[in-house]
Amino acid sequence: MAGMTNEHNPVALVTGGSEGLGLELVRTLSDRGWTVLTDARTPDRLHDAVGRLPGAAHVTALPGDVAEADHRAELVTTVAAAGGLDLLVLNASTLGPLPMRPLRELTATELGDTIRGTAGANAALMIELTDQLLRRDGVVVGISSDAAVEHYPTWGPYGAAKAALDHLVQTFGEETGLASYAVDPGDMRTRMHQDAFPGEDISDRPMPDTVAPRLLALVEQRPASGRYRADDIARVVSA
Ligand SMILES: NC(=O)c1ccc[n+]([C@@H]2O[C@H](COP(=O)([O-])OP(=O)(O)OC[C@H]3O[C@@H](n4cnc5c(N)ncnc54)[C@H](OP(=O)(O)O)[C@@H]3O)[C@@H](O)[C@H]2O)c1
Repeated sequence: MAGMTNEHNPVALVTGGSEGLGLELVRTLSDRGWTVLTDARTPDRLHDAVGRLPGAAHVTALPGDVAEADHRAELVTTVAAAGGLDLLVLNASTLGPLPMRPLRELTATELGDTIRGTAGANAALMIELTDQLLRRDGVVVGISSDAAVEHYPTWGPYGAAKAALDHLVQTFGEETGLASYAVDPGDMRTRMHQDAFPGEDISDRPMPDTVAPRLLALVEQRPASGRYRADDIARVVSA
């Protein structure tokens, strides 16, 4: 397992860990003994969610917006104090302006902010953590979406942001030699998914706990860097 050969517990940073997939990853990693750092913009929701985890003692919750440089600097300092980073999961994301609208109805600011907020912010954090990742031969996972490669009406800014993040994560892998993955988790029953389909019954979508173990199997077994769909991970690793 990544980092298990180090004398310290492995250390992970998961952006956007107050709910949905991010919270499920924080839960799974802390249950397995990892030291986990996570963030989210809404402090109460973050502290409530993390405080209820069985492994809460292993988790540090630092509220903040990954798009803000001061918050990212606080994350980097905390990771450095922990001795480096074994796993970075770039999970924090938004859909952009709601309700989702066609490109012709968006302002340039709305378009730019959505791409910057997901791709620019998470990639900046990844770059700022380069030394900490290299200290532990860490793994980078950028959470992607099918919208990064398909072209759904009204999903343009979000899809472009995910495509950009995929590209930046995989370029980072080529430049550093670190294992780097873009992972499309597939549809999940979360707040983001409900926001994308307001008023629709999404109870048939799988919960994030179906995705987290496959994602961690990828991290533990480190197949070739690249882009993976969660549904395909079992074909390349034993999940
Ligand atoms: N759900 C799906 O069907 C689906 C499908 C494909 C891909 N994905 C991807 O999977 C990941 C998780 O999605 P999800 O459905 O679990 O989302 P979610 O339920 O909306 O959770 C998103 C988390 O990220 C945090 N967050 C958002 N923007 C942030 C920022 N700028 N800085 C720090 N934290 C931030 C949110 O808290 P705050 O709002 O308090 O900041 C929350 O904790 C995302 O990358 C999403 O794009 C989801």
